[in-house]
Amino acid sequence: MDMRKNETLVITCDRGVSGYLRREIEQLSYTAKSVSDTRIEIAASLHDAMRLNLMLRTGVNVLCLLKQFSCKNPDELYKEVVSFPWEDYILPSEYLSIVSRVNTLSINNSVFASQKVKDAIVDRIAEKRGSRPNSGPDRDNVVINFYWNEEQCWLYLNASGKKLSDRGYRKIPHTAPLRENLAAALLCATGFDGSQPLVNPMCGSGTLAIEAALIALNRAPGLLRSNFGLKHIIGFDQEAWGALRKEARARSRKELPFRIIATDIDKNAIESAKKNAQTAGVDQLIEFHVCDFRDTPIPEEKGIIILNPEYGYRLGKQPELEKVYESIGDFFKNKCAGYTGYVFTGNMPLAKKVGLKASRRLIFFNAKIECRLLEYHMYIGSKEGRHDDRP
Ligand SMILES: C[S@@+](CC[C@H](N)C(=O)[O-])C[C@H]1O[C@@H](n2cnc3c(N)ncnc32)[C@H](O)[C@@H]1O
Repeated sequence: MDMRKNETLVITCDRGVSGYLRREIEQLSYTAKSVSDTRIEIAASLHDAMRLNLMLRTGVNVLCLLKQFSCKNPDELYKEVVSFPWEDYILPSEYLSIVSRVNTLSINNSVFASQKVKDAIVDRIAEKRGSRPNSGPDRDNVVINFYWNEEQCWLYLNASGKKLSDRGYRKIPHTAPLRENLAAALLCATGFDGSQPLVNPMCGSGTLAIEAALIALNRAPGLLRSNFGLKHIIGFDQEAWGALRKEARARSRKELPFRIIATDIDKNAIESAKKNAQTAGVDQLIEFHVCDFRDTPIPEEKGIIILNPEYGYRLGKQPELEKVYESIGDFFKNKCAGYTGYVFTGNMPLAKKVGLKASRRLIFFNAKIECRLLEYHMYIGSKEGRHDDRP
């Protein structure tokens, strides 16, 4: 496998995030060939795929297109897959996992498609190398993504393996944690770059504060993880990987220029946030406090304050939460003048209770829940606290 050959790479993301992912990709000097809601295509090598695995904060998977073909039924699928030179990519000693998504009349389940693709790959390797790799659902080794849409099929090598959102620091999740890549995308949307304080009341397991610290330190999120799918492929360039990691480490700051403060009323939440921050190597840099969100210390320098309150679907109760959302509006008005405030929620009627005029309402998806990131400018002076009934 030639790690420097130009390939078609596809970087996937969650709905609502592709604009932020595109910005990240372009900042790394790649050009987006096509952009949709959930994927960005670029022309780049597997060496670049390693760099993207290391650097991207908002992406989900880095995929490398291996083969595209048309196919009408499972027999044709087997023939197309078995004709690919898998023995050049995967050793018989490896473990293989197939991730399929199917939208065709030919078959109605992706498990069957995965089985067919897996059979063809291991049969081919057994024929060429004398033994076959083991396979199963574990994504810690070689991962192949397969998409079948009507009569078109795509086979990708998943260079990430496990999702990039699995940074590896969240050993102790608290209630309803945000995924790491969503937290990073929310911070990108606020414009946070570390050149201002970041305050995160209701921090839960600390995902927003930890991602903010990684951004402010310019620390590549992939440095937290040693395993990626690409590492299990024949010809993986360990030396180049080491050099990329060294380069990324050298670019990372040691100190935060501004304070990051994370608070929660639940001491167990702060315990888990501290442990997660420790695993991420940023626990000394975040100020944690157990307190009601209204008592969160607000630094003098003006910055960003972001809250992810309960939505009331999974956790809290609606009437209680109405009061909480109302108090967020009061807290913003009375204590956060000069700050830009953000509320991330999946409950629009509750969001209305904040009672301030939102300057932006950005759509994101937290798992399947459609959410909004609402932005409020707390001006010092006449515009401060202007009320509005819209969410
Ligand atoms: C949806 S969770 C936040 C999840 C977090 N974004 C994460 O990634 O883990 C909401 C958090 O708000 C906290 N909370 C609820 N009411 C609070 C209050 N009055 N003051 C401070 N924190 C509160 C809860 O303890 C919970 O941890």
